[in-house]
Amino acid sequence: MSASVVAAKGVNLHLTSGGAPLHILKDVDLSLSAGEVTAIVGPSGSGKTSLLMVLGGLERPTTGAITVAGTDITGLNEDKLAIFRRANLGILFQNFHLIPSMTALENVALTLEIADPGRPFHQIRDAAMTALTDVGLADRHSHLPSALSGGEQQRVGLARAMVGNPKLLLADEPTGNLDQETGARVIELMLELARTRGTAILLITHDPNIAARADRQLRMSGGHLSAQMSVAA
Ligand SMILES: Nc1ncnc2c1ncn2[C@@H]1O[C@H](COP(=O)(O)OP(=O)(O)O)[C@@H](O)[C@H]1O
Ligand SMILES: [Mg+2]
Repeated sequence: MSASVVAAKGVNLHLTSGGAPLHILKDVDLSLSAGEVTAIVGPSGSGKTSLLMVLGGLERPTTGAITVAGTDITGLNEDKLAIFRRANLGILFQNFHLIPSMTALENVALTLEIADPGRPFHQIRDAAMTALTDVGLADRHSHLPSALSGGEQQRVGLARAMVGNPKLLLADEPTGNLDQETGARVIELMLELARTRGTAILLITHDPNIAARADRQLRMSGGHLSAQMSVAA
């Protein structure tokens, strides 16, 4: 039996938009275990990104309990949430979000410099280099993002997300800007890294072929999260 990484119960998110109240997440329950890969599919606007933000402590739920890696994150203030995120979380975005003026190595190293400012730089550089090697980009370490293809940029994003050995990797449509073949390769790499290290993954995707690679599939619809009965292979 794998260790629980995420336990979310009765999560609701209410926001207002232009004065109008919105009920974005509706009584969401979710458990993720170490090493388990869970895909979430569902239409645009159904609340997938909102759920990811709430689980990552980037947005506060209106009600509900969320425990991540043994910590009740709904009880943390902003400073403690920031520390919690650095210690436990990796995030992969659709648009890569690399810093354009920094090399691939510097982008990955920055995560560790922020997480552990006292650590000697040669150790940080070595760890960042290892993370780039893990995604097959050791020979591109001195390139700026603009000199890398989309697939390579997302592999740098993956190295950055995994370099701190997070317990939980949140991936929000990470292949949305990649062609199908390149996207599939990034996903393979992500699954391999996560399974080797026992990282729990929550993967939001529009692509049924990618969702089918996960251990289980859930569907978000109108703020409700439910089991997805079948996925096209
Ligand atoms: N900060 C916000 N303020 C108001 N409404 C928001 C905010 N963020 C998201 N929404 C709304 O919440 C709903 C769910 O959005 P989102 O979680 O981004 O869906 P998805 O990722 O499934 O496309 C949408 O109707 C969106 O317009
Ligand atoms: Mg979204």
